[in-house]
Amino acid sequence: MAGYKGSIIVEGGRPLHGTVRVPAAKNSVLPLLAGVLLCGEPVRLRAVPRLADVEGCITLLQGAGLAARWENGDLLLSGSPVCSTLPGETAAQMRASILFCAPLLARLGRAETALPGGCRIGARPIDLHLEGLARMGAQELDAGPGRLVLTAPAGLHGAEITLRFPSVGATETLILAAVCAKGRTVLRGAAREPEIADLADFLNRCGGKIEGAGSSTVCIEGRRQLSGCVFSPLPDRIFASTLACAAAVAGGRVELAGCPPRLYAPVLEILEQMGCRVERSGKNACVSRYGSLKGVGRVFTGVYPGLATDAAPPLAAALLCAGGESSIEDVIFERRFGCAEGFLRLGGRVNVTGRTLHIRPLPPGQSLAGSRLVAPDLRGGAALVLAALAAEGKSEIRQAGYIDRGYADFTKILAGLGAQIRRETAPRAERVKKTPSKK
Ligand code: UD1
Repeated sequence: MAGYKGSIIVEGGRPLHGTVRVPAAKNSVLPLLAGVLLCGEPVRLRAVPRLADVEGCITLLQGAGLAARWENGDLLLSGSPVCSTLPGETAAQMRASILFCAPLLARLGRAETALPGGCRIGARPIDLHLEGLARMGAQELDAGPGRLVLTAPAGLHGAEITLRFPSVGATETLILAAVCAKGRTVLRGAAREPEIADLADFLNRCGGKIEGAGSSTVCIEGRRQLSGCVFSPLPDRIFASTLACAAAVAGGRVELAGCPPRLYAPVLEILEQMGCRVERSGKNACVSRYGSLKGVGRVFTGVYPGLATDAAPPLAAALLCAGGESSIEDVIFERRFGCAEGFLRLGGRVNVTGRTLHIRPLPPGQSLAGSRLVAPDLRGGAALVLAALAAEGKSEIRQAGYIDRGYADFTKILAGLGAQIRRETAPRAERVKKTPSKK
């Protein structure tokens, strides 16, 4: 995977107008790609966004021995895993690489990967994944620092597992492990995020037998092997949340098409409380803001159907522009608000205590002012771009490559809505060197 290079340049102060089709969800596509390792026949995933994290997962699949190719926006995958060691650098950079271990264990009896490291948004242990896999017959070998080697010499078997916390990733790992394990698995305390139901839908379309996904108890009857299928992944509720917040920040009217509003109901409801108008119809939502924004007091993230932790930074960008006080506490990750430093540089009145971002209104007549910013992480980076849309003058958001992990064509989409925004791919220093002299 590429580094997090590149900058986004924003001239703030332009309202947004237009319609955006919401792409497939990164957080659905990544586990689906892990699930493809279990499939004995080709899979076609429809309309997959070309995100850096998707490209990373393709590298993992190719490293395991699968073939992947793009065709008119669809991703076609075929072949069976022959190598149980995931390619090192890519695996180490992506938290989602842990999801590829359970299918490799199920099919090859072994999985080896670089451990997904800590992340800027907080510690991200994998103990729940490993404890569940151990109950299904996996053993962890001593592989030295930074590496994980799991074996299941006698294959994986069903088990009764209760998660201490409804981890999205651990729920996905254990569904992936159970769907081809011997016997029945009952998973209690499971995460209920819609991306989990989507993974189960995909696996069931391939011949799996999973019931209850999307609720806190999931029952899985193991099957020997899965077939393939053609599948359209769920729309991206975090993308939709981000664009809804962009409309609130910049003003104007943005229609988000193809993503049922119930999937991101908390964000839409908070935006309404802030003074935005939200029209919902079928799979579309239209967010408009022509007046000023109000603060909303205290806001908390939560597991689904609560406010998604990934939507907290973009929502914070909207609250930054409000005329009253607000705070957001992220109960899921301890360092969710790495974007606070950038908000401060823009003139925002924010501070972080523990897991909470406190936001005070700007003094009357004062507005945010453009500045040079650094994207701290994926969602924090998107939040800084949003805040820059509201700032007077020019902002530069560096390390924009973070944003590519989860948003395809982010700048093009915002420019299409009327924002004055462009992407500079090469770091400034490199471009200056390459520019021919004017002599
Ligand atoms: C997924 C999403 C991510 C989102 C998160 C929470 C993907 C690819 N990523 O991440 O965008 O922010 O859900 O909705 O789908 N935990 C443990 N032990 C474990 C696993 C998790 O303690 O074994 C803790 C984590 O440290 C964290 C919390 O559980 O505090 C939530 O993590 P989890 O739900 O697993 O998130 P991810 O699956 O990593």
